[in-house]
Amino acid sequence: MKVTQLDCLCVILLHLLHTAGSERFEVLGPTDVIAAVAGDDIILPCYLKPNISAEDITVDWLNLDFLDGRVYRYQNSEIIREDQILFYRGRTSLFKEELWRGNTSLKLTRVQGTDEGRYKCFIKAKSWYDDFTIEVLVKAVGSKPVVSIEGHREGGMGLLCETEGWHPEPELLWLESKGDRLSAGPPEIHRDLKGFYTVKQHVIVQETDTNRFTCRVQQSRINEKMETEVHLPSELFDYATPLRMAFIVLCCLGAITVIGLSLAMYCICIKKGVIIDQLKLQRDDQSKQGEVLRKERDDLKKERVDLWAQNSKYCLQIITLLTSLERQKYNFL
Ligand SMILES: *[C@@H]1O[C@H](CO)[C@@H](O)[C@H](O)[C@H]1NC(C)=O
Ligand SMILES: *[C@@H]1O[C@H](CO)[C@@H](O)[C@H](O)[C@H]1NC(C)=O
Repeated sequence: MKVTQLDCLCVILLHLLHTAGSERFEVLGPTDVIAAVAGDDIILPCYLKPNISAEDITVDWLNLDFLDGRVYRYQNSEIIREDQILFYRGRTSLFKEELWRGNTSLKLTRVQGTDEGRYKCFIKAKSWYDDFTIEVLVKAVGSKPVVSIEGHREGGMGLLCETEGWHPEPELLWLESKGDRLSAGPPEIHRDLKGFYTVKQHVIVQETDTNRFTCRVQQSRINEKMETEVHLPSELFDYATPLRMAFIVLCCLGAITVIGLSLAMYCICIKKGVIIDQLKLQRDDQSKQGEVLRKERDDLKKERVDLWAQNSKYCLQIITLLTSLERQKYNFL
């Protein structure tokens, strides 16, 4: 049989059409978000339709947040570890026994916060490729909030609330007993290497009727909420804020000063009074003494006068006596 050039061309075209047709496929997966719990192992489903073997084609798994690296690559029946994003190393695999029927699902072990994102399952044959993108949400419920008392701060009591191990990033709230939100400092957010969040928030509270305060952590996307209530004994507040303390100290110092000054004044006054009294007394004494002396002097004067009078009387008597004696002598003679 003679084969013409036209026949030949037809055969080649037919062959091309056949191979192209046989390689044509669709890549499919779930359209819903895949919710993964941190620490679990998950499967990211992906498969070919029709269910042709994927053993001799290239399977790429990509995280669309990391365009300069791959999650996983399978090519020429081998796992290619070049350009693998570091934190997926040792945690990803394909189901090798499923590849021959077009199942290119990825197994991801020990899910962590950084795994959240959009993943592309990209499959490339010699003359055909297709891809499918799925979304993964990582849910990590962190620790119950821990409240610690930091002591007196700016005229109130400083409290700190801490919670760790969350994904996605949670919101921290400080509430008073009636449920009203307290104005707190800015949240301090830290993300660890595995992508889990730790959040801290400081608040300064004033004394209230109940002295009960609540720290709430909530993550609405994963519908989680936890609370820790703290009750502060009012003595904590009574133990005076530094300002109040300073005020009290100042008051005490003031009172002591005033009392001291008053005492000093009083003492001085009393001393002065005593001295004055003494002087007065002395003066009185002196005037009394003067009076006595004066009286003595007067008495003496009187006595002298009396003495004079007596003297003169005696003198007269003597003279009378003498004259009488003279007279008697004359008579006798
Ligand atoms: C491939 O798909 C066809 C129908 O779509 C099914 O009958 C067959 O069992 C599948 N093969 C494998 C290996 O899963
Ligand atoms: C692919 O394989 C995995 C693991 O055995 C299985 O869970 C999944 O259902 C398979 N998917 C399809 C489409 O067959």
